Amino acid sequence: MGSQPVLHILFGRAEIEAAVSRLAAEITRDYHGKYPVLIGILKGSFMFMADLVRLLDFPLEVEFIRASSYGRGSQTSGRVKVGWSPPYPIKGRDVLVIEDIVDTGLTTSFLLDYLRKKKPASLKLCALTDKPSRRQVPVEIDYLGLTVPDKFLVGYGIDWDQKYRNLPDMYYVEIED
Ligand code: IMP
Ligand code: MG
Repeated sequence: MGSQPVLHILFGRAEIEAAVSRLAAEITRDYHGKYPVLIGILKGSFMFMADLVRLLDFPLEVEFIRASSYGRGSQTSGRVKVGWSPPYPIKGRDVLVIEDIVDTGLTTSFLLDYLRKKKPASLKLCALTDKPSRRQVPVEIDYLGLTVPDKFLVGYGIDWDQKYRNLPDMYYVEIED
């Protein structure tokens, strides 16, 4: 037998697109002419990053960092692994971290501390979604797309046990017998 994940739609692609466009306008206003480095947190931010940078019509760099506090399932392990360090100095650069979900805040706060030690000129956070009800450590989100309920989300780059990243819309998962 076994339980089956059932997907319920949370945000369709039009809603996601509207949120990404608004974020792009805010980021353009603040970073135009600054030649920032956008650092996406893998893997969940890859689709968001791809859509976002196509709306940013000014010089910038794109990097990715592997950092995760999650194990294979849907429970946080409380531990954060950083699997990459910048191949060039970010000292003195304007760094914008791109995240899919701020949940407990452990991953993002750890990573922001890690990057801050490398002395960027500025360090800000852009998150597609925020799950404030789950927060364990405070995280300041400078650019926020969508606030989400305490549900397990998938789609638009976000996975459940590595599945569903390819879905163009965002869903929440419920386990049904
Ligand atoms: P945090 O460290 O608890 O804030 O978790 C951040 C990371 O956990 C996010 O970057 C996601 O990769 C993952 N995560 C948190 N909530 C969800 C979810 O609802 N679905 C899938 N991944 C999630
Ligand atoms: Mg992530």
